[in-house]
Amino acid sequence: MQRIYLDNAATSYPKAPGVGEAVRHFIDSVGDNMNRSGYDSLEADEMVFETREMLAKLFNFPAPEAVVFTLNITYGLNFLLKGILKPGDHAIVSSMEHNAVMRPLIQLEKTGVDFSRVNCDETGHLDINHFRSCIRPNTKITVLTHASNVSGTILPVGQIGEICAEEDILFVVDTAQTAGVLDIDFQKIGADALAFTGHKGLLAPQGIGGFLLSQKVAGEMETLVSGGTGSLSEYEEVPPYLPDKFEAGTPNLPGIYGLHRALQYLSEVGLDFIREKELKLAGYLLEELGEIEGVTIAGPKGTEGRMAVVSADFVGYDNAQVAYWLDKRFGIRTRCGLHCAPSAHKTLGTFPQGTVRFSPGHFNSEADIEKAVTAVRKVLKELESTRM
Ligand code: ALA
Repeated sequence: MQRIYLDNAATSYPKAPGVGEAVRHFIDSVGDNMNRSGYDSLEADEMVFETREMLAKLFNFPAPEAVVFTLNITYGLNFLLKGILKPGDHAIVSSMEHNAVMRPLIQLEKTGVDFSRVNCDETGHLDINHFRSCIRPNTKITVLTHASNVSGTILPVGQIGEICAEEDILFVVDTAQTAGVLDIDFQKIGADALAFTGHKGLLAPQGIGGFLLSQKVAGEMETLVSGGTGSLSEYEEVPPYLPDKFEAGTPNLPGIYGLHRALQYLSEVGLDFIREKELKLAGYLLEELGEIEGVTIAGPKGTEGRMAVVSADFVGYDNAQVAYWLDKRFGIRTRCGLHCAPSAHKTLGTFPQGTVRFSPGHFNSEADIEKAVTAVRKVLKELESTRM
């Protein structure tokens, strides 16, 4: 049975052409560590720096040395939240956040950090007036997802960045669902830090992500992890400069080689092309699923203001059963449940049942969507008949 992968919001598949070869090239033909050895071996060092430069270019960020690599965006967000927030500080988040933001905040709450959750409506759109009313004299930071991993709703990062700048609040953007698809301009958004992951829209392997941060934030922030950096080795203190301050231990070099290749591919193809194609597929899905009786779409009903993440609640059916049969009988791969974002599901009215999430990617075709929709109709019909 042909498999149709529609779970790109969880991780993209396939990856950009050449990513596998790039990873293999490092493993088979390079192999040595960066920034550690005395012998003549600069390829990995250069590749890592070039990848920082490519990311800086992608996000219109002025300082490649302040592009820090971590394992993934969850680590990036943990570094930022736990490094910036101190007891007595207040943070603001939206009600659409993923647990990569909420769990660190709940941990920090136990140490004396307080936070407010800004209301979003049942389509995931943020209430700016409520955001303003959440600001307190001790508000240190606002953390916002650029787009929901459940409904695809794009949040108004530019507007929030402007208010944060006026109010002297640090602004951190979670680009898990948008990097590699939307044009993201660090400076235009007014961000102080931005976290990214390689394995979703950037079409790179798992295990490589990171964050970009301003010198101001970097100076104030503690590091979550410390250890050897290959620099200032005569001292036992953490190096004060970037990226070493936040990059202890041997990095994921195979992952960085893969990310480098993927970023090259994205710049060859262009984000506009990717965005246009993904949105067209999402539009088709929204239209076709929306016509099926018993299907409720979470979030915006049209393609405006959203990513290609289409969550469907099969009212009257067990969503897990629908997803199971879509995979088992028709090879349609979706993600079912709460998508590690219970707050978003509560906002959208799909808690606790969750949704079946269809997230087409750059490599899907209209024929894939057609097959998925036909499969949904068949699965619902069969489930209906077994209920008689
Ligand atoms: N956060 C990822 C998702 O939405 C894993 O599926």
